[in-house]
Amino acid sequence: MAMVCAFLTILVVMSHWSTCCLGCDLPRTHNLTVLKQMSRQSPVSCLKDIKYFELPLEKVDAQQIQKSQAISVLQTLTQQVLTLFESEESRAAWNETLRLSFCNYLYQQLKDLEACQNQQVGVQEVPLTQEPSWLAVREYFGRITMYLKQKKHSPCAWEVVRVEVGRALIYSDMFLAKLSEEKE
Ligand SMILES: *[C@@H]1O[C@H](CO)[C@@H](O)[C@H](O)[C@H]1NC(C)=O
Ligand SMILES: *[C@@H]1O[C@H](CO)[C@@H](O)[C@H](O)[C@H]1NC(C)=O
Repeated sequence: MAMVCAFLTILVVMSHWSTCCLGCDLPRTHNLTVLKQMSRQSPVSCLKDIKYFELPLEKVDAQQIQKSQAISVLQTLTQQVLTLFESEESRAAWNETLRLSFCNYLYQQLKDLEACQNQQVGVQEVPLTQEPSWLAVREYFGRITMYLKQKKHSPCAWEVVRVEVGRALIYSDMFLAKLSEEKE
């Protein structure tokens, strides 16, 4: 009996490990310190360039998000921000030290998300809502890229985009929270 109990205890401990410690380790909120430090223009001087990009995450009911949906949206968002800040034009626009630090942060985030996704293998969830899909997120970044082109990648256009990206990351915190919430 004692042996059986010990065995069961080990099983319980192991199953706890497998849910808690398999490298799916994401913060609840994004760290925007570096993105804030990157600012070079006074936001007031760029008011004339402000544009509404229709962030798809704005319309989300956090209760309706499912874990698999949260991961795919976060992955798409992080990848798109990384592509934006790794572009040739971005290199010319920002302080290189800060830009690299921000890109490293995003890259690490992507790797952590991948670990979360690998934990999801075999879990089938039917999305309750279709929006916002990763496709809507890609279209949103298409609008941002088009805007930068139209503004010829001016310093103010980049400042507007920097603020917008910060907003998108803050909105995506509710997706991050969803991932930590269901992990516990
Ligand atoms: C956020 O990032 C900055 C710069 O990398 C770091 O100094 C700071 O400790 C981070 N804050 C948190 C809460 O992780
Ligand atoms: C870039 O930012 C770093 C960190 O804030 C700073 O030490 C460095 O002087 C900056 N470089 C330029 C060229 O502004």
